Amino acid sequence: MPKKEDRLLRVGVLGCGPIAQAAHFESCTKARNAELYAICDVADDLRERMAATYAPRTSYDDYDRMLADPELEAVIIATSDAFHVPAARRALEAGKHVLCEKPLGVTIEETRELADLVKQTGLTLQVGHMKRFDPGLEAAKAFIDTEMGELQALKAWYCDSTHRYAMTDAVQPLMVTSRNVRKPSGDPKADKRRYYMLAHGSHLLDTARYFAGEITEVSARLSERFGAYCWFVDVSFANGTLGHLDLTVAIRGDWHEGFTIYGEHGSIFARTLNPWYYKSSDVEIFHEKDATTRRVLGADGHFYRRQLEGFADVILHGKPQTGADVIDGLASVQGMVAIARSVETGKPVRLADTTGAV
Ligand SMILES: NC(=O)c1ccc[n+]([C@@H]2O[C@H](COP(=O)([O-])OP(=O)(O)OC[C@H]3O[C@@H](n4cnc5c(N)ncnc54)[C@H](O)[C@@H]3O)[C@@H](O)[C@H]2O)c1
Repeated sequence: MPKKEDRLLRVGVLGCGPIAQAAHFESCTKARNAELYAICDVADDLRERMAATYAPRTSYDDYDRMLADPELEAVIIATSDAFHVPAARRALEAGKHVLCEKPLGVTIEETRELADLVKQTGLTLQVGHMKRFDPGLEAAKAFIDTEMGELQALKAWYCDSTHRYAMTDAVQPLMVTSRNVRKPSGDPKADKRRYYMLAHGSHLLDTARYFAGEITEVSARLSERFGAYCWFVDVSFANGTLGHLDLTVAIRGDWHEGFTIYGEHGSIFARTLNPWYYKSSDVEIFHEKDATTRRVLGADGHFYRRQLEGFADVILHGKPQTGADVIDGLASVQGMVAIARSVETGKPVRLADTTGAV
């Protein structure tokens, strides 16, 4: 287990739902530079059970009371999408740093206002695009930044599996549920186009931007057949890289995620696994200079813990932020809106022209 450092970031987790149970509580307890200081949930039964299991120093049934705790330094927002921006705002206003689950927001306007607030406060906000902390993706990024030269093309795909729940149930802890949880009004899963785009498309867009930079325009087509949704998206990057994204939920087959990048001095071929296996992506990097392929092992594939450690390093030690910041979070929301509008209109959509909700 990573050895704990002397100075630990005191983190409070808002929400004791599935993502907190599967990722964030454990990440806080294992992180070398953070501790699970507090947990918060309105559902008393759930919160008490989680407090007994993960032993935070304190727990709260009220978010504002947790934020008023002077010992608390940062929050992880692990609630439904619609609550992300309001919860992040309250934390920043209370002077706390924020690690917010993806997607950062559900409308461009609310996310842009949040970006203004981050700038005003000078606090750190990181979006839970934990794939950036996959050692395989980090190796690809390092190659792009140092050796690959100009990029020519990026293809990335994120295809959920019809068997994903059998796969995740086999490895995740048994989820504790409660009748008393707080959910947004309406059913966020009723509109599948929107739900799948927010849940999965946000990851795919962030991965594409992590490697090839700003996306300026998208042109998207959607096929809906036999209950499966398949988006093919033609992407223009500001640096001229040609892009193609495939988001399919769900394919009849194994989890299928990865990317291929062609550059001036090499190529990258990557296969990403179901995240709950905590296994780094298999990333093969071909170096034109010596006609050799290298592949990083990435023994530590706990990207949820590693994203928290990266976040805490920024706050405690002033290290550069490699995780997605508020501008990256906003760009993902713009990308999702642009894809939705392009599907509706059958036309290319510039991200700078987008407004409204995903
Ligand atoms: N990064 C990933 O790989 C990944 C994977 C799964 C889910 N997620 C994201 O995690 C987020 C949370 O997902 P989930 O399924 O755990 O959510 P959920 O809605 O099931 O659980 C959220 C919990 O927060 C509590 N809560 C909400 N508002 C509160 C408030 N104001 N005060 C106190 N408690 C409050 C609820 O009672 C509930 O127990 C989603 O945005 C989802 O997109 C990310």
